[in-house]
Amino acid sequence: MLQKILTGIKPTGQIHIGNYVGAIKPSLDLAQKDNISSYLFIADSHSLTIQPPTAELKHSIHQAASAWLACGLDPNKVFFYCQSDIPELFELNWILSCCTPKGLMNRAHSYKAKRDQNLKLGKKDLDDKVNMGLYNYPILMSADILLFSPHQVPVGGDQVQHLEMARDIAQKFNHIYKSNLFTIPKALVREQKILPGLDGRKMSKSYNNEIPLFLESKKLQKLIRKIKTDSLPAETPKDTKNCLIFQIYKHFASAKETQNLKEHYAKGIGWGEAKDILFYKLEDYFKKKKETYDHYMSQPLELEKILKTGSEKVKEEAQAFLKQVKKTVGLFKEL
Ligand code: ADP
Ligand code: TRP
Repeated sequence: MLQKILTGIKPTGQIHIGNYVGAIKPSLDLAQKDNISSYLFIADSHSLTIQPPTAELKHSIHQAASAWLACGLDPNKVFFYCQSDIPELFELNWILSCCTPKGLMNRAHSYKAKRDQNLKLGKKDLDDKVNMGLYNYPILMSADILLFSPHQVPVGGDQVQHLEMARDIAQKFNHIYKSNLFTIPKALVREQKILPGLDGRKMSKSYNNEIPLFLESKKLQKLIRKIKTDSLPAETPKDTKNCLIFQIYKHFASAKETQNLKEHYAKGIGWGEAKDILFYKLEDYFKKKKETYDHYMSQPLELEKILKTGSEKVKEEAQAFLKQVKKTVGLFKEL
């Protein structure tokens, strides 16, 4: 049976190796299979919750699109588009909002994190700097998913809660309208563990602790040197389990290379050497991809054309599905 997958990435800075390991690579591996139809998109409207400067957002959209293409996305084989080019999503967003209990949104991680941060800062108003876009984020994300009825949504472990919410909202709608219109989507998490960033927290554009995919060599090396380590001397045997360098390395190395490095750790390795091993691995892994990335970044019109063509390809499906939703809730008119 044909399976549909769908995933999106927010363009809010440079795409990093956490995005690659958690979402891009698993999606592109699946997209190559014959029985899989893939919807891979740039979640650009989601970026507005942090109100990036206009030109910056446009640049980030180009970076995200170039990154997908450089990592092997074939726009002739997958549906590749920008969220903001699909107006049906925003209409569905409203309809889903009306089926979503407010309490569900109160529990969303991103909203709770902002409140916790305000609490820590001693602010009286815990909702300070929380806009409704951030608060309602999981509903728009549900619309992104439910409009195209995917079976599986490849994401990193940090998005599992959002997927649970999309399932809840879909079930709620189906229940209220006694329908089975919405396919209940499943999160597809290949790697439960979220990839940590330079400082050991989740690697994220929001924390400024990321290793971007397409840095030029010198900058990449400098960044890798910043990875937090302990101060054990080189000759002391090292544990790979909690080592950031090793955790990143194993995603890009072969089984044999990973085993070799593990043995090297057991015998004792200097952190400088371990960092160099990681640097050469990443440089090698992304070298060819970087050429493609640079090509697309220098051809913004070509990029925008690819995205526009992608949105035209999904238009008919989006319109037809929204029509069904509107019929179901009583908003659709025949004339
Ligand atoms: P960021 O947190 O950097 O803004 P996004 O929220 O745009 O990244 O995430 C896009 C995709 O990449 C999601 O599927 C998310 O789960 C995945 N992802 C992001 N950071 C990581 C990470 N550190 N480890 C694994 N997957 C990640
Ligand atoms: N919320 C996701 C993130 O921050 C990005 C995203 C938006 C997404 N819409 C989606 C992911 C739909 C999967 C499916 O990473």
